[in-house]
Amino acid sequence: METLTNWGPRVTGTQAEQQTLDYIKETLQDYGYEVARQEFDLPAVKASEFTVGGSSIASAVARNSVTTEEAGVTAELFFAEFGEKTDFTAEASGKIALIARGGGVTFQDKVNHAQEAGAVGVIIYDNAEKEEPLSYSATSEIPAIGITKAQGESLKESLGEAKIIINVVEQRTSSNIIAKKYPENSNMDNEIVYITAHVDSVPGAPGANDNATGTAAALEMARVLKDQPLDKELRIVFVGAEEIGLVGSRYYANSLSEEERTRSIANFNMDMVATAWENATAIYTNTVSGEANLVTESANKVAKIIGTPSELVLFKRGSSDHVAFDEVGIPAANFIRREPGTHNLEPYYHNENDVMQYVSKERLKEMIDLVGGAVYSVVREK
Ligand code: BES
Ligand code: ZN
Repeated sequence: METLTNWGPRVTGTQAEQQTLDYIKETLQDYGYEVARQEFDLPAVKASEFTVGGSSIASAVARNSVTTEEAGVTAELFFAEFGEKTDFTAEASGKIALIARGGGVTFQDKVNHAQEAGAVGVIIYDNAEKEEPLSYSATSEIPAIGITKAQGESLKESLGEAKIIINVVEQRTSSNIIAKKYPENSNMDNEIVYITAHVDSVPGAPGANDNATGTAAALEMARVLKDQPLDKELRIVFVGAEEIGLVGSRYYANSLSEEERTRSIANFNMDMVATAWENATAIYTNTVSGEANLVTESANKVAKIIGTPSELVLFKRGSSDHVAFDEVGIPAANFIRREPGTHNLEPYYHNENDVMQYVSKERLKEMIDLVGGAVYSVVREK
């Protein structure tokens, strides 16, 4: 935990995240595991150039816009008000649509309507006075950008020829690290149990509780379980790129074959498992549906047997890697500490105070005993 926190913030796609993944891989190999690194692309960083009548105007690329050829697209502007379907006349075809933000039309709908009308590009301008060009999210098959309110309003007065170029300026990668352990009587239909924890953190937060705790807990379970005979297949997955939207776990879950998915029976995900915050007296078992499953039930059973001091609370919550397993039909839950009743997270969440001082070794041990015990109870069951 200390090592990882010292390297923090372990921001997705950075050297610090890579270094963490390398360290985990080496540690697992030292324990004697067969370890794989699964590398994947992060969403590309794109930049746009927007010029009207030869002068350039500051713009921001829509998240999930296509890129253009080097020469970009050049066409006359067509003003389409708020971008309702009916705002696009036949004239819009082959032009670049200029659309105002708002009017009860979502960014995605504005883009879709422009596309359906045969426009070759989309520009949405802000409805609030801001310095920065409008940044929005929409999936687009034609180049889509945002600009400021001031620029948009002046453009609509004198629609001329415009050019949009969008290109990739940076393409980073991240990875998942996967350790596998096969059962004693290994055969092709063994059930699979997953332990997961994300290793990355957000900019500005050293990531002690989020999620050096879960990572350390998963590593410790790997160490302890290494020499235990198992009756099911165990996979311990250290996940990259969680904080930018579950990119690593979704990549992993989608990489599983149909046959592997069918064999998969449980995902124990640990994320923020040992805050020292006084009020976080409960251990939450979060599932996407809010319903109990094999993961939450085995934890409840083991908590009783070993006398886990904290109360366990079943709760409906996504926001972590268990979602990716749930999405492909694998029973999954996230373990996390919260304040019972309010469900609050600690005040150190995603900020500079997420440091070693505010994590608890006692609570880390409590979680390792609980989740480790629950995993063992499932993988040891014939
Ligand atoms: N550990 C956090 C948050 C979290 C809260 C996990 C409650 C599990 C239960 C996690 O790393 C995170 O910040 N998630 C993001 C969403 C994610 C899809 C990028 C969040 O909650 O904002
Ligand atoms: Zn987290």
